[in-house]
Amino acid sequence: MNDNIAVNIEQIGIIKTPYEDKAPFQPIDNDKEEFYIIINEQYRDGLKKLKTFKYIYIIYYLNQIKIEKKMLISPPWAEKKEIGVFASRSPMRPNQIGLSIVKIKKIIDNRIYTSGLDVFNNTPLLDIKPYIKDLDNKTDANNGWVSELNDDGHLALHINGIPHNY
Ligand SMILES: C[S@@+](CC[C@H](N)C(=O)[O-])C[C@H]1O[C@@H](n2cnc3c(N)ncnc32)[C@H](O)[C@@H]1O
Repeated sequence: MNDNIAVNIEQIGIIKTPYEDKAPFQPIDNDKEEFYIIINEQYRDGLKKLKTFKYIYIIYYLNQIKIEKKMLISPPWAEKKEIGVFASRSPMRPNQIGLSIVKIKKIIDNRIYTSGLDVFNNTPLLDIKPYIKDLDNKTDANNGWVSELNDDGHLALHINGIPHNY
């Protein structure tokens, strides 16, 4: 028994990226490819004043997860570590929800052009929120278990989404 209640979530748009079946582990800020988000027409008014912000949170549904979901995982860039899925940014989570912070390049009609994203082409969009400097920037934040790894420089590249052969 639990107290779960019904949750209704609707796709509000779609994310366009150059990645069909392989994407960086996290967004690459200076990725030179084109990335944009199309908001469904009925939500277009919700973009009012969004362009006054430099950064936004993009929340999306990781629709192409094919492998089994586990509560304990090992990130591909830290294979020797076993951690709980909620202490990770793994896409293999119970609700397949992903979160990326990206820079707004421009907004034209119902399209938001952004800096690099770490999602496959046509990933369903669930929400957008502004990244508000004085609200979201936690100056005493830490790196949790990632600090326990002893190959910081190399791992920092992976954490930033940059693959091995980069
Ligand atoms: C490590 S996750 C991080 C996602 C997000 N930045 C976060 O922290 O929640 C990024 C990986 O998710 C996978 N991925 C991207 N888009 C996906 C989709 N639509 N369905 C399933 N997996 C996806 C890719 O393998 C990509 O490297």
